[in-house]
Amino acid sequence: MTALTLSTAAVAGLRADAIVIGVAKGSASKPGGPVVAPGAEAVVQAYDGNLAGVLETLGASGAEGEVTKLPAPAGFKAPLVLAVGLGAQPQKDSGYDAEALRRAAGAAARALSGTKKAAFALPLTDPADAGAVAEGVLLGAYSFDAYKDQGDAKNGKNGKAPLAEAALLGGKPRDKAYKAAVERAVAVSEELNRARDLINTPPNDLNPEAFAAVAQAAAKEHGIKVQVLDEKALVKGGYGGILGVGAGSASGPRLVKLSYTSSKAKKHLALVGKGITYDSGGISLKPAGHNETMKCDMSGAAAVFAAVVAAARLGLEVNVTGWLALAENMPSGSATRPGDVLRMYSGKTVEVLNTDAEGRLVLADALWAASQEKPDAIVDVATLTGAMVLALGSRTFGIMANDDDFRAVVREAAEEAGEPAWPMPLPEHLRKGMESSTADIANMGERMGGGLVAGLFLREFVGEGITWAHLDIAGPAFNEGGPFGYTPKGGTGSAVRTLVRLAERAAAGELS
Ligand code: BES
Ligand code: MN
Ligand code: ZN
Repeated sequence: MTALTLSTAAVAGLRADAIVIGVAKGSASKPGGPVVAPGAEAVVQAYDGNLAGVLETLGASGAEGEVTKLPAPAGFKAPLVLAVGLGAQPQKDSGYDAEALRRAAGAAARALSGTKKAAFALPLTDPADAGAVAEGVLLGAYSFDAYKDQGDAKNGKNGKAPLAEAALLGGKPRDKAYKAAVERAVAVSEELNRARDLINTPPNDLNPEAFAAVAQAAAKEHGIKVQVLDEKALVKGGYGGILGVGAGSASGPRLVKLSYTSSKAKKHLALVGKGITYDSGGISLKPAGHNETMKCDMSGAAAVFAAVVAAARLGLEVNVTGWLALAENMPSGSATRPGDVLRMYSGKTVEVLNTDAEGRLVLADALWAASQEKPDAIVDVATLTGAMVLALGSRTFGIMANDDDFRAVVREAAEEAGEPAWPMPLPEHLRKGMESSTADIANMGERMGGGLVAGLFLREFVGEGITWAHLDIAGPAFNEGGPFGYTPKGGTGSAVRTLVRLAERAAAGELS
């Protein structure tokens, strides 16, 4: 990952390959033209005060994500200035919002792949801004080339190696709060990028056993207690949901429990992740065109894993238990059939009407297992339904909950983290569609509102009186389009930052 430092060096004398500055869209007082953002005063001066004019000549407008490169002024040690668009200027003097900085830093870091060292002279008003720029750089510079041909060592496997070093100017390197903000950004981004790696790893290399082994190793490294239930243990414990989904695969399912505990904890947060390492649909096989990206179906488990490790690295004063429900959903002679009835860990029976509605089955067992510890709250994360993608698009995740206040808390955490999320209801009338003539409930209901039906199904496997929220990240988990801001193609690490923020809130006693 890119090496990050806070620096007070004067920009002209900096030995770097590029200087990054911010440029915003003109305001009423300067219609149309770009405006250079604070933090780049020395650069503006070196262009005789007319940098905005130069940028305008080059076609820059300050639009979000826009990148304009220009030769550095005479006397600068760095050869290149890269102006990155911040979008609209902030209202009044409140400074740019963290997400605008994060996105701009990410776009700049992406544009600088193949470069060794860059200095970022973006507008920082407080430590949180420094943290946002750090996150943007570290997340934007991400690339996944473990499976690319070696290429030449100098340029990296992908043609261009990620930006190697970044110096953040304008912060206070000796100030504790600035240092802490950057350290937090490094821990969270490293774990988030690791979640992306897991999501991007092809399903022939990342089966439930392999995922569990990665979790075990990381837990050991960070002092997290880990327990892995293999197939035998799952049979013994009666985890019919996880076993039923894994039954068709040559790679057996696993349930991984990660426990991070703090001696100063006042709250206990449980996180549950859907970890389908590949979703073929099972006997209700997905048609071609719908299964090429289904290695991403373990994104929820990857997010939970990353969040628990990040909480441990940050030493948060809260207990966080992560549950990874891992299985591969495949069709075969031993696979669960549509029409089969599973006896779940909770004791309830489920008639499987569609084997492609497998996520709710593995989550049901993990939710019930998490409930046995009576945590203060449970949050599950899952690439659960195509219906949620239809409802909210590919960048926003849906939040459902059995408690309106908690749903609002999760939404606030997402907002603070810079992740688009939206509250969704759990309409009671949709429960009827899941009535089964044979079992306690069916794993499918009405097609319309399918994301909410799935939420209602999960709710039945949450222990009595436990506060619970469900994040359906089917849209934002995997970016099939081009990269934008700090979001790469492929696995995005959706929900990691929201979960970390939630754990921080829990540590501060702010769960409801
Ligand atoms: N993993 C899919 C949901 C999904 C769709 C994730 C698109 C990411 C992108 C899930 O297991 C699934 O197949 N859901 C079905 C449920 C249906 C059969 C009730 C769906 O949404 O079609
Ligand atoms: Mn499915
Ligand atoms: Zn699935």
